[in-house]
Amino acid sequence: MIIPKHIAFIMDGNGRWAKAKGKSRTFGHKAGFKNLVEVVKACQELGVETVTCYAFSTENWNRPASEVSYLMDVPSELYSEKGKEFVEKQIKVRFIGRRDRVPSHTLKAIVSIEEDTKEFTKFEVVIAFDYGSYEELTTSIKKIARDAIDGTIKVEDIDDNLISNYLYTRDLPPIDLMVRTSGEHRLSNYLLWQLAYSELYFPKTYWPDFNKNELLIAINEYNKRNRRFGSIEEE
Ligand code: IPE
Ligand code: IPE
Ligand code: MG
Repeated sequence: MIIPKHIAFIMDGNGRWAKAKGKSRTFGHKAGFKNLVEVVKACQELGVETVTCYAFSTENWNRPASEVSYLMDVPSELYSEKGKEFVEKQIKVRFIGRRDRVPSHTLKAIVSIEEDTKEFTKFEVVIAFDYGSYEELTTSIKKIARDAIDGTIKVEDIDDNLISNYLYTRDLPPIDLMVRTSGEHRLSNYLLWQLAYSELYFPKTYWPDFNKNELLIAINEYNKRNRRFGSIEEE
């Protein structure tokens, strides 16, 4: 079985998972956060090299203040409850997304986890937090325009490689497989450029129930795909 090098997850369905149990949405997010750590560890054990997880979108600010407030605590919980384990397991943790709107305790936790794990090179988890593709592309295009005006780059040099190098994901490998849990079939402003040639998989399972067995099913499904990249199959 070929193990994808880079898997991206849209961790969706925490709220519906909790509702089905008669619990609050926050209860669902707590379970989802625990599961993030479990899935990350399972990926590492299987030999995946990079995992990118959508934890908070630029659109998620539109949720009720109490829910947003809990979600803003996730990086601090990750740092205080799992920071040591990430170091022990040599997991590099990085965040992508805006940093200018999150509360100061959230930013502090983000910077601390990144600082503590920055030396690790074998396995990386990237957490998309206050992330949205429209924002990422808009910011990058502005920077490209500024660099072209001041002469750092030439307009003729703008190609897909250069554009990729202006994104938050600049040093990450291409995404082989994207998994969105909960049965929704959309990208919700997630990594639009980066997913251009990824295999997409949409299990019905709500994120808190997405376990190692489900991960293996996803990887098995990936192995059935024929990645042609616009070419034709070899005879
Ligand atoms: C995904 O679960 C987590 C975040 C968006 C932060 P949801 O909270 O979207 O759960 P559903 O989709 O309402 O079930
Ligand atoms: C996408 O899920 C964002 C995250 C999982 C963080 P949403 O639940 O916010 O997406 P929509 O609203 O169903 O498109
Ligand atoms: Mg959702």
